[in-house]
Amino acid sequence: MTWWSGAIGYEIYPRSFADSSGDGVGDLEGIRRHLDHLTWLGVDALWITPFYPNPGFDHGYDVSNYVDVDPIHGTLDDFDRLVADAHARGLRVIVDIVPNHTSHEHEWFRKAIADPSSAYRDYYIWKDPAPNGGPPNNWVSHFGGPAWTQDARSGQYYLHLFLPEQPDLNWENPEVAREFDEILRFWCERGVDGFRIDVAHGLVKDVRFRDNPQIREPTPDMSAGEVFHCYEHRYDLDQNRNIGVFRRWKRVVSEYDAMLLGEIGPDNPARHARYHDAGQALDRNFYLSPVWSSWQPMILRDKLRALEMIGGDSIAWVTDSHDASRSPTRFGGGDRGRYRSLCLTTLMFGLGGMPFLWEGQELALEDGIVAVEDRTDPVSTRNENPAGGRDGARTVMPWDTSHCNGFTTAPEPWMPSQPRPAELTVAVQKADPDSWIHRYRRLIELRKKHPDLHEAPAEWIDGDHGLTMTLRRGRCLVAANLDDHPSHVHLPDGNWSLVFTSRPDGAGVVAGELELDGETAAILLVG
Ligand code: GLC
Repeated sequence: MTWWSGAIGYEIYPRSFADSSGDGVGDLEGIRRHLDHLTWLGVDALWITPFYPNPGFDHGYDVSNYVDVDPIHGTLDDFDRLVADAHARGLRVIVDIVPNHTSHEHEWFRKAIADPSSAYRDYYIWKDPAPNGGPPNNWVSHFGGPAWTQDARSGQYYLHLFLPEQPDLNWENPEVAREFDEILRFWCERGVDGFRIDVAHGLVKDVRFRDNPQIREPTPDMSAGEVFHCYEHRYDLDQNRNIGVFRRWKRVVSEYDAMLLGEIGPDNPARHARYHDAGQALDRNFYLSPVWSSWQPMILRDKLRALEMIGGDSIAWVTDSHDASRSPTRFGGGDRGRYRSLCLTTLMFGLGGMPFLWEGQELALEDGIVAVEDRTDPVSTRNENPAGGRDGARTVMPWDTSHCNGFTTAPEPWMPSQPRPAELTVAVQKADPDSWIHRYRRLIELRKKHPDLHEAPAEWIDGDHGLTMTLRRGRCLVAANLDDHPSHVHLPDGNWSLVFTSRPDGAGVVAGELELDGETAAILLVG
């Protein structure tokens, strides 16, 4: 048994979780002071997004030193205290590692650019201009514009799948691999229990740097994301050789009983599953389609079922993250969006693997409201078309009804946003047993109390039709009706009782039939 079998995770964006120093930016000490919230909720592991020194072009995902803490978030001592206190409470700590790119301010890149003959030059990906003087190929950045920037001094272009301030590392260079072995060991020695791997599907690139096939013509009015999807990312992403990097990492972290949790982009279930490599590479992989999409029941049904059947245990199931609009907003807004989101999460809690909640998801938060002039995400601030900006998901955690929802004592948080109403705060929801936070907590409690829900072999019992997904695992059964009309499930023999319903009074058992309201999920136990 590994520590992560059956575990439930919780994602923390340190800037926005809790500010202990009063400067308006969340910090590691703020997280430490709120560990009780996480133990009360019942999760097993926290994934903390990057807190390393960084110039802030992508809020931490532009790392300038992999083995320290950014002063805005605290110190290494704060980190050690956080890990010690988390462990004392039985909570595991997963840190975020960013191996696809560094910051342009990392000393490796500074040296690479200052002296093209330096050994660090080959830590990055440099190419001569195309014959017309332009970029070496047609690759585009996830964040808008070409994926290449010309270095005036040498005339060569360097690759960046994200911002020009995030130059891509060259994973063909054995020195880069060696550096990362050391970085992993540094954090393992400090007691971390795992690594979430940023853009895990992006590290290795096509050896010939061929043009990506174009699917449609990009137009000037498109958002960065739309332009990105004008291409099939055949040569910049998802190369088979990525998996070799993680086999190597697995050998390193296994010595410390730490896990590898990949951010895996491909939507195709079979391509996605290969990163697990029968337990030789990544232990759990985020499946991100439900994080990016609107409410699309048919697609969700087909994709989730296919993934579960290929290997649900290797998946980290999520509806939300710091990278997309919050699911209650994305799924239609208001209580309808909230119920859809909980319906999907309930199903995910039965799919095996490792479900994750994103901070504030337990409150059923919709996106926060950020004034245009206060936006900070480069996806919106650096493109003509601001669509796809992630600021709304990243507003501060509403703890209570005091100043700045109890997040900070500073006059304003790092990214000002409209305060949340009382009913969306932790303090008020905790006091009300019918609130969202109690529903999420009950769901977490149930998964722990009935290990069959993730351990017992899964058997889909709903056939291939309709929008009701029903999965039996040993003594448990999970059913989710993704349709907006009520549905029925013919229950297997036995005395089944309802133990959880995502919507109050949304389900009932009558004469061997489960009746489910539209967009409702339920968990049943057989006596
Ligand atoms: C990942 C992160 C995202 C970041 C990007 C570049 O997708 O989740 O927040 O902007 O990588 O590092």
